[in-house]
Amino acid sequence: MRAIAVSEYGATPALMNLPRPEPGPGEILVKMIAAGLNPFDWKLADGMVKDSVDASFPLILGVDGAGVVEEVGEGVTGLREGEQVYGTFAAIERGLGAFAEYALVREDGPIAAMPEGMIYTQAAAVPTASAAALGMVDAARIDAGQTVLVVGATGGVGQGVVQLASLAGAKVIATARDDMAGTMRRLGADETVDHSQSDDSDGLNAQVLAVHKDGIDAVLDMVSDTPATEDIAQLLRPGGTYVSSIWTVNPDAMEAKGLRGVNLNGGVTSGTLDRLSDLIDASDLRVQVEREVPLEDAPDALAANKAGGARGKTVIRI
Ligand SMILES: NC(=O)c1ccc[n+]([C@@H]2O[C@H](COP(=O)([O-])OP(=O)(O)OC[C@H]3O[C@@H](n4cnc5c(N)ncnc54)[C@H](OP(=O)(O)O)[C@@H]3O)[C@@H](O)[C@H]2O)c1
Repeated sequence: MRAIAVSEYGATPALMNLPRPEPGPGEILVKMIAAGLNPFDWKLADGMVKDSVDASFPLILGVDGAGVVEEVGEGVTGLREGEQVYGTFAAIERGLGAFAEYALVREDGPIAAMPEGMIYTQAAAVPTASAAALGMVDAARIDAGQTVLVVGATGGVGQGVVQLASLAGAKVIATARDDMAGTMRRLGADETVDHSQSDDSDGLNAQVLAVHKDGIDAVLDMVSDTPATEDIAQLLRPGGTYVSSIWTVNPDAMEAKGLRGVNLNGGVTSGTLDRLSDLIDASDLRVQVEREVPLEDAPDALAANKAGGARGKTVIRI
């Protein structure tokens, strides 16, 4: 089968012809129709988890996907051939992932029936980013009327965070370059601040403080390194919360300042997918697909995501 894989950590992702996996007991083989791209995919290729996971090479990249059940292994009762499913498909230890014609997932794993009326390219864009958005907003424990700053609001996770924080009743300030300010407001942001106007977080803080002199209640941050989170945390009122999706918050340092710091424990479960399906069905969550590319162009799409400037999700047509 055709797949996008790396031969070793640090190698350039490439189109390869690899064996089709066989479903073992409790496993489901899915014929992939579309796969969603996440920053994790190029971080994985670069070796981000090399010290914590024993990967097999060639290692197929890709986590998120949507497709049709092709074959079920022994003992699988909940899904049948031909059903439309979406979820996450990375099995790094076995060298398997979503950027391939076929992928495996356990029946009790992160898989669910596709939301009614949703097309494959939309469903594939949902799992990792929208589950992270849900996790960020859950972790922030937002009360209606609170003011929250979303840093990295224009990306795949951020667009979900803006919508879900607004749904929770927050007044949302979203970071956005000029071209994305209108989109952020359409997704539920009350205000935008332009992070490109200065080189450091002091400029961002000044823009927020110009309107919110008494500070804000929470920061939900997808991009800042640890020194920047310490700077931006100065915006928080006593008892405020700082949530990071990239593990750059130091909870002890936050606690010492009377704040709550949380690093997102990500991950997708079938329960999360069901919650996301409900939000999508109710039109409370919209996932913006910025770009669709054929499988052979996935290496370029990974490089483009790494270079920055995402305006929504990139989806790979398999
Ligand atoms: N912990 C978890 O489970 C988990 C789950 C999902 C994602 N993540 C991580 O969360 C991060 C975001 O993921 P994503 O899918 O949203 O990425 P993405 O789609 O690539 O979007 C990143 C966005 O951040 C913006 N940005 C970059 N620098 C910024 C800055 N200094 N201030 C404000 N905005 C800035 C970018 O726009 P410009 O380039 O135009 O500024 C872009 O729109 C990634 O590092 C990802 O690995 C973690």
